[in-house]
Amino acid sequence: MSGSVSEARQWARLMELAEIGAIPGDRLEDRGVNRPCLSALDRHARRKLIGWAEAIGCTVSVDDAANLFLRREGSAASLAPVLTGSHMDSQPQGGRFDGIWGVVAGLEALNALHDAGVATRRAVELVAWTNEEGGRFRPGCTGSMSWSGHTHPDRFRDILDPDGISYGGALEQQLGLEADIARRPLGGRPHAYVEAHIEQGPILEAEGFDIGVVSGIQGSRWFTVTLTGETAHAGTAPLRGRRDAVQDMVRAVGALNVLTADATDTLRFTVARIEVSPNTSNSVANLVRFTIDLRHPDEAVLRARGDAIEATIRGAVAGCDVAVAENFHAMPVVFDPLVTAAVAAAAAAEGLRHRPIPSGAFHDAQFVVPICPTGMVFVPSRRGISHNPAEYSSPAQLAAGARVLVRTLERLAE
Ligand code: HGY
Ligand code: MN
Ligand code: MN
Repeated sequence: MSGSVSEARQWARLMELAEIGAIPGDRLEDRGVNRPCLSALDRHARRKLIGWAEAIGCTVSVDDAANLFLRREGSAASLAPVLTGSHMDSQPQGGRFDGIWGVVAGLEALNALHDAGVATRRAVELVAWTNEEGGRFRPGCTGSMSWSGHTHPDRFRDILDPDGISYGGALEQQLGLEADIARRPLGGRPHAYVEAHIEQGPILEAEGFDIGVVSGIQGSRWFTVTLTGETAHAGTAPLRGRRDAVQDMVRAVGALNVLTADATDTLRFTVARIEVSPNTSNSVANLVRFTIDLRHPDEAVLRARGDAIEATIRGAVAGCDVAVAENFHAMPVVFDPLVTAAVAAAAAAEGLRHRPIPSGAFHDAQFVVPICPTGMVFVPSRRGISHNPAEYSSPAQLAAGARVLVRTLERLAE
């Protein structure tokens, strides 16, 4: 039945969706995507997906977190469904495959089951999770964290995007504009969850593998650091006694580099979003807000280094007030052998070279782990590039991934 997976149909759908929020570029190869969650672009892509899914008899529903579900009935309606899916939102300079391929691959699996006339015992549901990336509203995974009960949805309501729009407002708008879609309660207990995703790293390509049988996901902690000083005239204010938020940020990041130093290059420490006020060249900055993205596969290391961040900053600054808020706390997870074995068996049945592989990127799957047996399927990323318009996986690589996904879903749905 995996023979009913169509490489051409999957690729055509991916390229059609890549036009929605396409970043103008000279060559298609370099054209990235900026498709923020809970935006008109997001809703346009969702409507396209719904159309394709309804055409093969799927029913559509959306929950209070705007997670979108497309369901293919099974013969034993009372049984818990098998769930697959990923996210449709992108980074501001995202690629054409991160997240969206997992959704299109799930649709391709449903389409293959339909085309082959296969009746699974369990229903198979495809989900598009809200705001996995955290590009517009920090943190990411607010849809899957709401669905799984990891975090109460009200905690996200007042988060503001760069234009001052609140998450709660954007969510309300989305639900209003999709009021024609059946509403379903938040939450659920699927029989199993399988997410297909590009690797976003270099291992599978470098080692010549077709499929990654994902073993688990490393932990991630996000912090927002606010340094408050005093603005002053750049020409007249003596350096002595300044409360310069930029200089203190430099001191803080220097000290954090020491805290997070790791000769094995396993720990990931990133500062990539910085706001400065008043942000003029001739007034000393009185406010800097910067983000920290800290990751590690070992929970003890992640806790120890993450818990030391605030004290390290306080010990490094020279005069600014310090506030540190943690706004994302995802501990490492290990995937369930029920799913990892099914993925490995599917890859073997397809004659594909496969290996176990940990995920450096976080995914919605991280928050589904406590709810049901969970796993992921990776396909190679060209030169490991992701969160970058040059992100690329070939039609054949993606079709192989879809064939492994549909075999895995069929096995779990019996
Ligand atoms: O940041 C991540 O790991 C994910 O790709 N959003
Ligand atoms: Mn992703
Ligand atoms: Mn991503």
